This record gives sequence, C-alpha cells and structure tokens, in this order.
Amino acid sequence: MSKGHLKYVHVIVVVLSLAMNPLLIPEAYIIGAQPLCSQLVGLSQGQKKLCQLYQDHMQYIGEGAKTGIRECQYQFRHRRWNCSTVDNSSVFGRVMQIGSRETAFTYAISAAGVVNAVSRACREGELSSCGCSRAARPKDLPRDWLWGGCGDNLNYGYRFSREFVDAREREKSFPKGSHENARLLMNLHNNEAGRRIVSDLAHVSCKCHGVSGSCSLKTCWLQLADFRKVGDALKEKYDSAVAMKLNSRGKLVQMHSRFNPPTNHDLVYIEQSPDYCLKNQSTGSLGTVGRLCNKTSEGMDGCELMCCGRGYDQYKAQIVERCHCKFHWCCYVKCKRCTKIVDQFVCK
Ligand SMILES: *[C@@H]1O[C@H](CO)[C@@H](O)[C@H](O)[C@H]1NC(C)=O
Ligand SMILES: *[C@@H]1O[C@H](CO)[C@@H](O)[C@H](O)[C@H]1NC(C)=O
Ligand SMILES: *[C@@H]1O[C@H](CO)[C@@H](O)[C@H](O)[C@H]1NC(C)=O
Ligand SMILES: *[C@@H]1O[C@H](CO)[C@@H](O)[C@H](O)[C@H]1NC(C)=O
Repeated sequence: MSKGHLKYVHVIVVVLSLAMNPLLIPEAYIIGAQPLCSQLVGLSQGQKKLCQLYQDHMQYIGEGAKTGIRECQYQFRHRRWNCSTVDNSSVFGRVMQIGSRETAFTYAISAAGVVNAVSRACREGELSSCGCSRAARPKDLPRDWLWGGCGDNLNYGYRFSREFVDAREREKSFPKGSHENARLLMNLHNNEAGRRIVSDLAHVSCKCHGVSGSCSLKTCWLQLADFRKVGDALKEKYDSAVAMKLNSRGKLVQMHSRFNPPTNHDLVYIEQSPDYCLKNQSTGSLGTVGRLCNKTSEGMDGCELMCCGRGYDQYKAQIVERCHCKFHWCCYVKCKRCTKIVDQFVCK
C-alpha cells in the first residue's frame, strides 16, 4: 500500500459516513497485511463490498470528496458557516446532525466531487472497469466534425457514484414517517442533485486539426465543466433550497405548497439552520468569534452581519503583494514584491 493512499482514507470515511464522530481512530490507518477495504472505518456493508470489487476506485472517491470539501470552503468563505467544523475528527462534524441547508449543500457537493473524479479517472485510463466516454454523438454537432475524442465518462461516473455514495443510505431502514427516515430521504435527494448538476454542466469540447491551424477538421468529445462552475451552480441551489416536511404517507413534500415542487436538480432541507453566531457543540456551529470581516460591506462578509452585532476589533496587518509588474519580451511578466499595511477587522 503506498503512502498516497493513506491520506485518502480519512476523506473517504468522512464522505461516506457523513455521520457523527466517525470512528477515526489513528490506529485504523496503520495499513498492515489486511486489504484496504477492511481498514476503511465508516464504510457501510454495501460500500465494503463495492470497495472489494473496485479497489482501484477508492482513491478517486477520496480525491473527489476532497475536491468537494475544498470547493465548499471556497463557496462559503465569506459566510458565518464556512464549511468547517467544531469536531475536527470529521470535516463536516456536527453540522451534519441537523437537516439544514448547509447539510444539504455538503452532501450535494461531495456527491458531485465523486462523480467528477470517477468520470475523469475513467478517461485517463486509471480504472480497470471503464475507459473513455461512449456517449452518443450529439444530434446538433456539425456533420463534418468528428465525434469520439476521449471524453470524460460521465455515464460511468454517475452510475458508480450513485451506487457507492447512496449505498449507505439505502441500507438503512427507519420507520416510515420518522425523523430519521426524513433525513435519509433528504440525503438521497441532495446526493442526486449534486450528481445532476455535474451532468447538467458537462459540455461538448472540440479541438481543431488541419493544415497549420486551418481548423478544417474538428474532433469533439464530452467534457466535464470546471469544478468551480459546479460549486457556483450548487451555491445557487443552496440559496433557493426548498424546505420540506413529511406528509401522511411518509413522503417528503414541500413545506410551502405555493412554490413549485423541487426537481432532482434542487437542494432540499427539513430543518432550519442555526444562526452560526456562537459556538454550539450540539448544532456544529463554530461561531464567528475571531473571523475576519469587511467593515464597508453590507453583505454577509460585512462586520455587522458576520459578527452578529457583537462588534469587532481593528488591527493593522502587513500583507505582501505583487506590484510594479513589467512585461518582458518574450514572454514573461516580472513583478516586485511590495508590502502594504492594511486595516483588518476581526469579530469579537
Ligand atoms: C483538532 O486536531 C488537532 C491536531 O490534529 C488536535 O490537536 C486538536 O485537539 C483537535 N481539536 C478538536 C476540537 O478535536
Ligand atoms: C445550542 O443549540 C441548541 C439547538 O438550537 C440550543 O437548544 C442550545 O441552547 C444551544 N446551546 C448553547 C450553549 O447555546
Ligand atoms: C472557518 O471559521 C473558523 C472560525 O469560526 C476558523 O477557525 C476556520 O479557520 C475557518 N475555516 C476556513 C476554511 O476558512
Ligand atoms: C469590502 O467590501 C467592499 C464593498 O462590498 C468591497 O468593495 C471591498 O473590496 C471589500 N474589501 C475587502 C478587503 O474584501
């Protein structure tokens, strides 16, 4: 087992258990003679089976999850909840205990990250059970363009991650109408939304051939969008996430029926979010004490909202910047480093 695998173990467990206090005992990572899958604390029974059948996929699942988490932290960098956690034994920690919008987002973006990573790994020939995309030629592709460059295998990535990531939820069984069952349905819905967004944003990409760039010939293939676009799209879904409740038949239905029902591409939640102002172990809120804020902004990053009205301290901070950049022929840009004193504002 290479050392490279070790660092993924943690992430895999986090995403796939997305549960509280996954048993992340350091000793569990001392990979001995046992095969990888039995070492992955936190995998459900079905996930262990898939792991055994598809060991070469595990690294990409871990990478995908990590990409999702990083994107989550980027998208929420100016918010009170910044995709970090109280309990650093898991990336999402206790936030996952409540069925909030934030929880919805983390499930969706992790699932999206996994589709993304597995689809690309197929294209790159890293997995034994898949290769380049075999998606059908789009009908509107001009007739003289070639279809069939090696594309991201979205079809496979989607199906495999649905099997694997959802397995955990599908194995559970709770009484119909229970809160636990509502959470299960919510998680499955949001996992699917994350995967659908990746699929929605995939596009046709082409390359020119022909005599010295004449572009008389084009080869085209299926290409996944940059993951930042997936993050941006899911952030919009977060802003328009739909509040749900259980109906008398144990199905999730929207709380306010005057709106359109959510589609497979929308995020859903079943519990109101806390305000994330103060540290609270039971909600997974880290609080905003010590967070940087923007004195002139009226948005969520502004000191008023970020600090929840508690006020802020002002500091002088020295930052280093690239400056006096000059273009040199040919072809590079050379910059100086300038230090600058700026005011920084930090929540009380
Ligand atoms: C977080 O992790 C660090 C180092 O891994 C550890 O020292 C610290 O106690 C942890 N904090 C919590 C709240 O678990
Ligand atoms: C933490 O949050 C819970 C749920 O909102 C609340 O009941 C509890 O009073 C809070 N605890 C503290 C210490 O603020
Ligand atoms: C998120 O906020 C907490 C404090 O509330 C801070 O300790 C942590 O570094 C922040 N994380 C990121 C990724 O910015
Ligand atoms: C603070 O917010 C203002 C207004 O939104 C913006 O123009 C400015 O660039 C922000 N400053 C920093 C340091 O982000």
